[in-house]
Amino acid sequence: MRIGVLTGGGDCPGLNAVIRAVVRKGVTAYGHEFVGFRDGWKGPLEGLTKPLGIAEVRGILPRGGTILGSSRTNPFKIEGGVEKIKANLAEQGVDALVAIGGEDTLGVATKLHDLGVNVVGVPKTIDNDLNGTDYTFGFDTAVNIAMEAIDRLHTTAESHHRTLVVEVMGRHAGWIALHAGLAGGANVILLPERQFDVEQVATYVTKRFQVEYAPIVVVAEGAQPLDGQMVLHNQELDSFGHVRLGGIGQWLAEQLEEKTGKEARTVVLGHIQRGGTPTAFDRVLSTRFGLQAIDAVHEGDFGKMVALKGTDVVRIPLIEGTGELKTVPLERYEEAEVFFGN
Ligand code: F6P
Repeated sequence: MRIGVLTGGGDCPGLNAVIRAVVRKGVTAYGHEFVGFRDGWKGPLEGLTKPLGIAEVRGILPRGGTILGSSRTNPFKIEGGVEKIKANLAEQGVDALVAIGGEDTLGVATKLHDLGVNVVGVPKTIDNDLNGTDYTFGFDTAVNIAMEAIDRLHTTAESHHRTLVVEVMGRHAGWIALHAGLAGGANVILLPERQFDVEQVATYVTKRFQVEYAPIVVVAEGAQPLDGQMVLHNQELDSFGHVRLGGIGQWLAEQLEEKTGKEARTVVLGHIQRGGTPTAFDRVLSTRFGLQAIDAVHEGDFGKMVALKGTDVVRIPLIEGTGELKTVPLERYEEAEVFFGN
């Protein structure tokens, strides 16, 4: 078989580890051939390819980013996009595709499978918001990066008796904020799933100063205050219709400074959370996902997404992973709330 591989959406640590596992097992165990498609769905859409074999995947296990490049191209937003993809796959002699991506990339994979393209999906996103899998790879790395930042911010916040607001990624799901905040001992954690009362946050912050510690407030980029509109940096939309966020941390720090009378600063972690080498957990998860994905392709088990269930890597229908976002349940937030303001 000749198999195409692509990585789409925001990059994340572990993408290369998946590509390596797919190719290594595909070549050595099954004798398949591979072709890399560049920059997500743009690759098959425009016929942009890259050689992909054992030599190309040597040494990439610990490397962040993706050797194939990525983009947020949506072929369903482009006139004749599906036909172009089908024609390019035929021209390249590609029998099946492994698509590695988040809700958007795998959403496209789901639709293409319904239209007759042989595809297997691998879930990635630092946001951990894909349904059907207990974890996506990239999340553990992002949480560790954010946790380390919070650890460092504690000491400087305390030296200067300041509030430090840490804005982390997470548009619609607050998994990074929740886990990094819990692991880093944040004073308050604010998520997109639950609007927050800025007066209540100010009370928590004041309480923390009263016990002689400086508060760290972790806020997901998609969190919103009770009575305000979502704070947007600009209104630009990507081709999947997502707004580009940023700004809630700055807004919150200004509010807290005014309401508590204590200096407040903001740190926006941004793309640092997505860059660099994956943790051991993410390397192992990515590798196991890649191995399961190539098995699925080899067996002709298309329209599936690989997923982690407990400690097992299994296959589920693509639609189960992409139909709905996995957000933070209320009870998980309530666990964290015990520590707020203390
Ligand atoms: O989906 C992954 C993610 O990192 C989100 O957490 C974040 O909101 C978004 O991508 C940022 O996208 P971009 O890199 O296009 O600015």
